[in-house]
Amino acid sequence: MTLDIAVNDAAPAPNREKPTLPDAQTVTAVKHWTDRLFSFRVTRPASLRFRSGEFVMIGLPGDNGKPILRAYSIASPNWDEELEFYSIKVPHGPLTSKLQHIKEGDQIILRPKPVGTLVLDALLPGKRLWFLATGTGLAPFASLMRDPETFERYEQVIMMHTCRTADELNYGRELVENLRNDELLTELYGDSFAERLLYYPTTTREESPLMGRITDNMTSGKVCADLGLPPINAQEDRAMICGSLAFNVDVKAVLEGFGLHEGANSEPREFVVEKAFVGEGI
Ligand SMILES: Cc1cc2nc3c(=O)[nH]c(=O)nc-3n(C[C@H](O)[C@H](O)[C@H](O)COP(=O)(O)OP(=O)(O)OC[C@H]3O[C@@H](n4cnc5c(N)ncnc54)[C@H](O)[C@@H]3O)c2cc1C
Ligand SMILES: NC(=O)c1ccc[n+]([C@@H]2O[C@H](COP(=O)([O-])OP(=O)(O)OC[C@H]3O[C@@H](n4cnc5c(N)ncnc54)[C@H](OP(=O)(O)O)[C@@H]3O)[C@@H](O)[C@H]2O)c1
Repeated sequence: MTLDIAVNDAAPAPNREKPTLPDAQTVTAVKHWTDRLFSFRVTRPASLRFRSGEFVMIGLPGDNGKPILRAYSIASPNWDEELEFYSIKVPHGPLTSKLQHIKEGDQIILRPKPVGTLVLDALLPGKRLWFLATGTGLAPFASLMRDPETFERYEQVIMMHTCRTADELNYGRELVENLRNDELLTELYGDSFAERLLYYPTTTREESPLMGRITDNMTSGKVCADLGLPPINAQEDRAMICGSLAFNVDVKAVLEGFGLHEGANSEPREFVVEKAFVGEGI
């Protein structure tokens, strides 16, 4: 698929040729994880600078030629030469019903204006940083986990990811395993690096080694007990939340119960929140 949005009279560019507009980027890899989840990589505009955790608008031309654009968290870290995205496939979704068919060499539209609240600068310094995600809400944390700056600022990072079924955890699981075995990070931080990146994947509708909603595992103290961490407290713990609206509201209440307050870029505090999607659910 090549975007038919050229501004000159030239014939549509064949795969892998230079994009015809500054906002078109070329797909370099696609991996399907389940029948409703896939990840893909695209070329990175030379001028694009972003903070790990931010999102951009990406899309494809619609049938009427008008672009269909949606917000997408950049899943790759800011040092990466390419950009990675982790996507849902919404049945009949205007964008993802098309986007799920992209292949290497195709082009997508990418508006190079990154924004977002899930950035390290929006949090006060602390000891531990919790990443709390459901479903594709993992994407901004896939970026932040791969950014050495995260480990410069915090002694420990805890990735809690919850999905309905075990196969929906695989993108995050593979990413964490690769990071823990990363030679560069081990060289930078020593053999104890694997102990600094803690992972707590749970399912809610299928048996797996760890079960339950993030909210329940936090309020019961189970996650801290299982990982050997002290109770969550406002002096040491910082958090970022990314999931459905209902999830975000419930986790926010749990964190506030532990004495943490919501912050923003303009006023760093103990936690920040961002929606993984708009709407009630598919
Ligand atoms: C700040 C922000 C960042 C986002 N980052 C990502 C991302 O990294 N990856 C990603 O897949 N989506 C992300 N989204 C959602 C994305 O913008 C689109 O909604 C999604 O790609 C579906 O597009 P669509 O046109 O096919 O369907 P839409 O018309 O956009 O959505 C239809 C319905 O599908 C449901 N839905 C949409 N996205 C999701 C999702 N990710 N998980 C579960 N249900 C969903 C909602 O109920 C929505 O009302 C993000 C949204 C926001 C606001
Ligand atoms: N995942 C699937 O297999 C699947 C398949 C087809 C369609 N869908 C539809 O796709 C939409 C999105 O599904 P999704 O699975 O990505 O997201 P989701 O419904 O938000 O669920 C993702 C995970 O978050 C948990 N969760 C949901 N609300 C929560 C809250 N308020 N507090 C704490 N944890 C919460 C869920 O636990 P619970 O299981 O306890 O709710 C689940 O483990 C839904 O409308 C769904 O009907 C999903």
